[in-house]
Amino acid sequence: MKVFHYKKALENHLKNLKKQGKSIGFVPTMGALHQGHLALVKNSLKDNDVTAVSIFVNPTQFDNPDDLKKYPRTFESDLALLKNISPEIIVFYPDAHDFYDGQIKSQHFDFDGLENEMEGKHRPGHFDGVGTVVKKLFEVVQPDRAYFGEKDFQQLQIIKKLVEKEHLPIEIVPIPIYREADGLAMSSRNRRLTKHHRTAAPFIYQVLKQSAILFEKENLETVKKFVENAIAAHPYLELEYFEIADEQTLKPATQKIAGNKYRGFIVVYAGEIRLIDNISLVTSS
Ligand code: PAJ
Repeated sequence: MKVFHYKKALENHLKNLKKQGKSIGFVPTMGALHQGHLALVKNSLKDNDVTAVSIFVNPTQFDNPDDLKKYPRTFESDLALLKNISPEIIVFYPDAHDFYDGQIKSQHFDFDGLENEMEGKHRPGHFDGVGTVVKKLFEVVQPDRAYFGEKDFQQLQIIKKLVEKEHLPIEIVPIPIYREADGLAMSSRNRRLTKHHRTAAPFIYQVLKQSAILFEKENLETVKKFVENAIAAHPYLELEYFEIADEQTLKPATQKIAGNKYRGFIVVYAGEIRLIDNISLVTSS
């Protein structure tokens, strides 16, 4: 398995492959890989001649230093998981100083307002950090296709906007949310849940599924109140926000318009761990 630490070496290697006419698929991650990540990788292997996966806990996108410090780092087992799928996968495990040319800081982006909603409000600077790292990764890898999960739906829309605004010739491929058998959305942070909180966490998806049923017939306020009350009544979970928003603009819905695509976006604390999930909402009227 080829593992690169330095961007110039990776760039040269991939440029050679491109010259040979090979298509490049790219999956950016922060490691602590699970089946959700691996679904992105498998899709890339299916669509492209070459697949590159980056593993980098990007410091510029963390608004909370404690979260950055405690973010799980499991490089050796990540490599084993990838190798098991295909030893041909190219891994980029950057050295932070080389990657950021010694200046670990974010560029400021205008994503036409997408960055000001939900996660943008609750995690100041987060999307500048994500935009910065993904733009740099795209410069190094120059992929034909890049794979992003709907688990981080706002991030996915922001990356599509980045590609549009920077006129990058990259196809962004969305991948549905992978869940544990009990419905909990897979996340690297799940491994930090205590036993009680792990048992409690699948309740989030149960509430989301019920909200989708309510959304078909009830008004927005009724659906929001239902979710707020359900999570408030749970002893181990604390709601940060639940928002019903337009899928494209991510602006909070003010009324239901038939034919529009909506999503319910939720963030819940299970103890110290911040869990994020979302669900497609379809109106019947
Ligand atoms: P990370 O949280 O490691 O996620 C990497 C990719 O895997 C993202 O596109 C994310 O949406 C996707 N993913 C995570 N859990 C998933 C699940 N349960 N089902 C489907 N896809 C899932 O997102 C990041 O890293 C970073 O912000 C990154 C884009 C790498 C920039 O640093």
